[in-house]
Amino acid sequence: MDIKQFVQDNQELIEAALEDAVPAVSVYPEKLHHAIHYSLFDGAKRIRPVLAIAVAESLGYKAEKVLPAAVAIELAHTGSIILDDLPCVDNSDERRGKAACHKAFGESTAILAACSLLDRLYAVIVEGLQEQNVESEKVLEVVKIISGAIGSGGVVVGQFTDIELQRTELDAKQLEFIHKKKTASMFVAVVDSAAVICEASAEAREALRAYAENLGIAFQLKDDLLDKEQKNEINAVKVYGEEKTAQLEEEFTAKALSALEPLGEKAELLEELATYLKERQR
Ligand code: IPE
Ligand code: MG
Repeated sequence: MDIKQFVQDNQELIEAALEDAVPAVSVYPEKLHHAIHYSLFDGAKRIRPVLAIAVAESLGYKAEKVLPAAVAIELAHTGSIILDDLPCVDNSDERRGKAACHKAFGESTAILAACSLLDRLYAVIVEGLQEQNVESEKVLEVVKIISGAIGSGGVVVGQFTDIELQRTELDAKQLEFIHKKKTASMFVAVVDSAAVICEASAEAREALRAYAENLGIAFQLKDDLLDKEQKNEINAVKVYGEEKTAQLEEEFTAKALSALEPLGEKAELLEELATYLKERQR
């Protein structure tokens, strides 16, 4: 399996599904839909949805089966990033090398675009999974998993503590808490949703969740290493220095890989994906 090719092929599939998931720019009010498209289609890596597809393929299912859950998490990710960049949150004027949503469209439009994405994702899950003939019980489980990861059980708490603890001396435990909530919770949610849809055994589900959590933390550490010149107040490099951050990234990637042991040969693609993420340059 050429992992780069796998990622690229699935990125194309995800782009098309995302296009279908939100109103066209030409739909009134155009400015709102333009803002949504501006943030949703601007060279994002689509790592979270790719992970869901990798889980599906590892368990012998087609990408299409999990695509609605994969798309839903990407909508959530985009919504959270728009909110994160706002002046009252992380105050970032730029995202992915261009003006942040609120800089391009104004704060009120950015907030409403984010709300719209964070709302739309539930309809995408329900409609999309029903179309894939996923049983209602599983659809409900996916809704529960994803809403739990986005709200006060996950990203919201991560973002909140990220802001609250700025300008304090962070210790390793606090930083790991923030990384788990802010970043890893979405990795866990998308992987666990795919596992549920693809009828993973309880043991496989547990293994996949552990993989996703460690991978999410490793991903954030790498993000901090790539972002060390940037202005985000809380960055692992500030807490540990560059060398230790890189070492921790290795350690969490290793933990993610060893969590996959119960999956045996089925884990190959997910192992390759973990290595691919460790070596990424953006
Ligand atoms: C950025 O996530 C925010 C983090 C939680 C690290 P990504 O690095 O996945 O961002 P895009 O969507 O590819 O730009
Ligand atoms: Mg931030």
